[in-house]
Amino acid sequence: MRRLTLPRQTPRLVLRDFTRDDFDGILAYSSDPRVTRHLFFGPRDAERTAEYLDGLLASQRETPRSRFELAVVARDTGRVIGACDLSRIERGVFDLGYMLGTAHWGRGYATEIARSLAEAAFLELRAARVISTVDVANRASIRVLEKLGMRWEAVYRKHRRAKNRWWDCHLYVLPREVWETEQARRAADPDPRSAPEG
Ligand SMILES: CC(C)(COP(=O)(O)OP(=O)(O)OC[C@H]1O[C@@H](n2cnc3c(N)ncnc32)[C@H](O)[C@@H]1OP(=O)(O)O)[C@@H](O)C(=O)NCCC(=O)NCCS
Repeated sequence: MRRLTLPRQTPRLVLRDFTRDDFDGILAYSSDPRVTRHLFFGPRDAERTAEYLDGLLASQRETPRSRFELAVVARDTGRVIGACDLSRIERGVFDLGYMLGTAHWGRGYATEIARSLAEAAFLELRAARVISTVDVANRASIRVLEKLGMRWEAVYRKHRRAKNRWWDCHLYVLPREVWETEQARRAADPDPRSAPEG
């Protein structure tokens, strides 16, 4: 599999590999129940965060590497504000995800992250499709996927059992052809006000 070039820069963020020094930053957002409300895990206490970080650092050493779980760093402060990930789930198919501390919601950061990871998946990892599954009640995340140009493909009833309940999830898909067409359209008309979002 091809490699992902890290760190990745977006206008306001840096996406880079986590290090052990990021423990406090990870604990800050992932111990917050508002952040993990629509996620299968968490909130995570310090012990769970340490286990998670161990697994994450081990995944960085895999060859070929199939999981890119990255720190989201605000360029203006240099602080970790969340995480995002691109995971290979089968040949040519990558799953996209993101989470941010609540203080950083509502500024378009998740959309910026999702755009950067989709570009990385298609240009560097040669993905055929980027997918995401999202809790049916997670309106903010669904909106991010729509802004990215992802298409609703299915609803999975009782997709997963976690945190003592069954989860219904939407499957969203961004095929390579759709992404390429949108890139060409943007190149021809870079005015974002005319973008056909959601
Ligand atoms: C989902 C999440 C990453 C979004 O981050 P963000 O940086 O605030 O997202 P953006 O600002 O790029 O876009 C959010 C969009 O959702 C909209 N939105 C937010 N809350 C909403 C709600 N309750 N209902 C409908 N739309 C909502 C915003 O208005 C915005 O759309 P707009 O640009 O058209 O106005 C953030 O809320 C989060 O970390 N949630 C917890 C973790 C999580 O659920 N991750 C997703 C797992 S699939």
